[in-house]
Amino acid sequence: MKKKTRPVIVVGSDHAGLGLKKYLSSLLEKKGYRVEDVGTHSRASVDYPDFAEKVGREVAGHRGKRGVLACGTGIGASIAANKIPGIRAGLANTPRAARLSREHNNTNVLVLEGRPYRKEKTRAILNSWLGAEFNGGRHRRRINKIARLEKKFRLNPDIHKHK
Ligand code: RB5
Repeated sequence: MKKKTRPVIVVGSDHAGLGLKKYLSSLLEKKGYRVEDVGTHSRASVDYPDFAEKVGREVAGHRGKRGVLACGTGIGASIAANKIPGIRAGLANTPRAARLSREHNNTNVLVLEGRPYRKEKTRAILNSWLGAEFNGGRHRRRINKIARLEKKFRLNPDIHKHK
């Protein structure tokens, strides 16, 4: 009998998001996802862009893979992940924002605030994100514009030099 492949979620965090990442990994596994944890794995201080890059590379390089990132506020990880072409990372602090980030922005990475985090809230945000689908239509036009921005600025690497 052919084994059904489980959908993959790549998870990553810095030290400040570690506790939340462990908790949401256990939630994802219970739901039947295969979790790929790119670190960090200890409480030692690390730099969130390194883990945003690891998650971003996996998600951007494989159609069908999605990711979840956490740092202290979720802000640094979002900024870093969104530098990677093809990544649409959304920081969501409510279930509604998580749902709309899928429906309107087709986020392929969910970013969460790791400090402080509450289990109940984390579960609700995660469920909302996992349960929502991209709506397409006018939202497709808008995310296509984001993709064009990536292209435009990739072709002009000197754009920030005057700053
Ligand atoms: C680490 O102390 C903290 O700066 C980081 O987790 C994050 O909140 C950055 O945006």
